[in-house]
Amino acid sequence: SSHSVALNTGLQMPLLGLGTYKLCGPADVYQAVDAALAAGYRSFDSAAVYRNEADLGKALRELLPKHGLTREDVFITSKLGPKDQGVRAMDGALHSLSQLDLEYIDLYLVHWPGTQGLQVADDRNPGNRAQSWASLEELHGQGKLRAIGVSNYTPAHLRALMQSCKVPPAVLQVEFHPRLCQPELRSLCKEFGVCFQAYSSLGKGELLTDPVILEVAKNCKRTPAQILLRWAVQQGVPVLPKSSNPERILRNAEVFHFALSDPDMDRLSALDCGQRFCWDPSEVA
Ligand code: A2P
Repeated sequence: SSHSVALNTGLQMPLLGLGTYKLCGPADVYQAVDAALAAGYRSFDSAAVYRNEADLGKALRELLPKHGLTREDVFITSKLGPKDQGVRAMDGALHSLSQLDLEYIDLYLVHWPGTQGLQVADDRNPGNRAQSWASLEELHGQGKLRAIGVSNYTPAHLRALMQSCKVPPAVLQVEFHPRLCQPELRSLCKEFGVCFQAYSSLGKGELLTDPVILEVAKNCKRTPAQILLRWAVQQGVPVLPKSSNPERILRNAEVFHFALSDPDMDRLSALDCGQRFCWDPSEVA
């Protein structure tokens, strides 16, 4: 469909998903998932480190029937935490499956190139990543992880993975917004057939007051968040806006109701200055 992208596994991934970072506690998760399903979201992005996998799994089991949906109608992403990188990766991924209480996860990502407890420059980091990837490949072969991928990898991390993997990553999920356009990673992903996915499209909320974004929003009669999300999806980049507010969850899903003009797209892209609102992975060996 026009609202999803084909991964290199053949699986379709929705262009819009609900980010769940900082959604915590069964009531918050339930309310957000309920609002998201009502607004048409069919993708949910969790992670072991968010500590909400169990709440998300439970909310979905209760809410899918309410919305007339089944497991096959939704796309669930989770991620291997940095403490489980390396020898613990198999157990870490199985723990995600048991927390979510799902038979399979649609997409499972290595969350971060480093290992918790190691210095960023430690030369054991690459070996741990390779070991994590081998475990994800094995679970992918068993059908427990329908697609596997990575998050926060730099061009160097991604090139090394492409050279050593048996199964190539389906997705690279990184920080992406008009101030951080990631041209090198995007062209590498294109070259390698990896789907480039955005997180923090709103710059942790800080881009919502950028004067250029505000002006484009005013001219288009849209909210600043809708402008930022539309700018990404119009380039075919899937987004994962997080909100715990039902009204904002609904509004953020209206990205498919309008288009930005080419000059407005270019104006936003011209804001690229390499600014990060999240951690920079470039020092990780
Ligand atoms: P809230 O949960 O109260 O809506 P990012 O995805 O870049 O990390 O940004 C997420 C932050 O942006 C959250 O703090 C969220 O807060 C806020 N947010 C999400 N959607 C909107 C919106 N449409 N308008 C304003 N703030 C938003």
